[in-house]
Amino acid sequence: MLKKLVIGAALALTPVAAMAAGGGDQHIEDFAFSFEGPFGTYDQNQLQRGLQIYTEVCAACHGLKFVPIRTLSDEGGPHMPEDQVRAYAAEYFSVYDSVEDEDRPATPVDNFPANTNAGAPDLSLMAKARAGFHGPYGSGMNQLFKGMGGAEYIASLLDGYTGEEKEEAGTTLYENTAFPGGWISMAPPLSDELVEFSDGHANDVRAMSQDVAAFLMWTAEPKMMARQQAGFVGVLILTILSVLLYLTNKRIWAPVKGRKDS
Ligand code: HEC
Repeated sequence: MLKKLVIGAALALTPVAAMAAGGGDQHIEDFAFSFEGPFGTYDQNQLQRGLQIYTEVCAACHGLKFVPIRTLSDEGGPHMPEDQVRAYAAEYFSVYDSVEDEDRPATPVDNFPANTNAGAPDLSLMAKARAGFHGPYGSGMNQLFKGMGGAEYIASLLDGYTGEEKEEAGTTLYENTAFPGGWISMAPPLSDELVEFSDGHANDVRAMSQDVAAFLMWTAEPKMMARQQAGFVGVLILTILSVLLYLTNKRIWAPVKGRKDS
């Protein structure tokens, strides 16, 4: 009965999933991120590079209004020293102070600013709002094995421009192999060597796409590691409990089961 229901639901969802995937012509690459798998962790250096790319490039249009700046010093995240975070906030961002009626430099207790470009969506939760992997046939099996693919989607999007452009109703659209429908209104934001890293890390489009995608995964899911650890401890405790219950059960029934008569 349950099996029939599941199959029925999967069949019913098929056309919807096919539509959502833009007819299935989207190309999402399965990047190997450090935070994948049950024991994956964020790569602190990668998050710091991603933050730098966001700040120098994406922040011109996109906001991160749900992310408190102080979380940049969180363990498991970019883990920057607190004085660095304070200096960073003041240097790069300002917030409107309604009491003084003027802008003042941001401090770690502020959130990142909201969007500055009306057409550009806020990126705080984008990595959770998009799914890179679908199907096959709406069954969701790909998501079970590869993950939801939010970060893969963002990295593929940034690295997916073909260089083709077209004008449509007064807007320029750029061909992109990862964007549903194939044409996006965001001009290619990254180009090789656009951002310089202090440690000389690779800064081609492909490397930077992954760095900023990892950073946006962290903004959307900052407690991923804690969540996975709690889950693991939970499973471990339940396993131990099962073994104890099994042994207890055996001991309790031993006098009855062991009887040869009756
Ligand atoms: C010049 C402004 C501008 C810059 C800079 C910019 N974006 Fe965008 N971005 C946009 C606009 C506009 C859209 C909406 C595009 C659309 O829906 O056609 C967008 C959409 C997006 C989307 C959502 C795509 C979707 O599935 O809806 C993501 C993710 C994104 N940008 C990431 C980034 C990242 C990461 C950077 C920095 C490397 C960046 N953007 C830099 C303007 C910009």
